[in-house]
Amino acid sequence: MTSKVSIIGAGMTGSTTAHWLAELEIADLVLVDVVEGMPQGKALDLYEALPIVGKDVAVVGTNGYEETANSDVVVVTAGLARKPGMSREDLLTTNARIVGAATTESLHYSPDAVFIILTNPLDTMAYMAMKIGSLPPHRVIGQAGVLDSARMRAFVAMELGVSVENINCYVLGGHGDSMVPLTRHSNVAGVPLNETMPKDRLDAIVERTRKGGAEIINLLKTGSAYYAPAAAITQMVEAILKDKHLIVPAASYMQGEYGLKDIFFGVPVQLGRQGVEKIIEYDLNNNEQAALEASAQEVRESTAMLHKLITIPQKTHRETK
Ligand code: 2OP
Repeated sequence: MTSKVSIIGAGMTGSTTAHWLAELEIADLVLVDVVEGMPQGKALDLYEALPIVGKDVAVVGTNGYEETANSDVVVVTAGLARKPGMSREDLLTTNARIVGAATTESLHYSPDAVFIILTNPLDTMAYMAMKIGSLPPHRVIGQAGVLDSARMRAFVAMELGVSVENINCYVLGGHGDSMVPLTRHSNVAGVPLNETMPKDRLDAIVERTRKGGAEIINLLKTGSAYYAPAAAITQMVEAILKDKHLIVPAASYMQGEYGLKDIFFGVPVQLGRQGVEKIIEYDLNNNEQAALEASAQEVRESTAMLHKLITIPQKTHRETK
């Protein structure tokens, strides 16, 4: 394989991402975790499955970072998962340390990698990764919009009984309860979503989407979602490695877009080999802009809390080669 992807954190999401990626046969894979034997065992087990499915990729598990050298993409899933009743923000301090260390170590061995951050609270963790690594904004992307939009698409498919493939949904904003499912921009085979069902049904879908992560946590009781988050990461990695110029909602660093600055925030981005190639600015009405602003305020508070709890370097980003 000419491409290499390292996944930091070999828990359910990390290892499921490796599984989806191995099936795509687009990159060699490295699974990193602090738990001794676990990433090695999962990597070997996955590799032993590949003769059956006929895929040739190297899969390595390790407790260190040397094996990650020269990765094209680094996916950071490491961190504590939310437990029932725990907010994403409760996780902030611990996960900031974990994401900070994972970013610094990975960058040491892969100075040109594009980073995809999944650890929660992910808008703030993506900010942390960019700052601690002094990375240019286009090389750090937070995964949330693909997942939140997929949940909305799934709920619409259940409601209407049509193929998930016919449904396009766009969820913007922070990956929290104030995320913004954009019903006006979403559609079913080209028909605006709000023309496909009564308002109360659509409102229920919007609400269920906002609480989609908590719904799974409450069902599982001992962990959080991993199939859909891993599929979302996989789509983003594929878009980057294949330089697809794919437009997906994802958390990107705001530098004036949508009137927002100095936070990571879920917006439509165009993904290619260099990471974020472009941020797409939708024409929003007053209600939609107000909803985004409310979500941005939540992310600002979390980012401010990060600054209070952790010393973050304020270096300018390093130049890409
Ligand atoms: C989710 O939404 C845990 O944030 C993750 O499922």
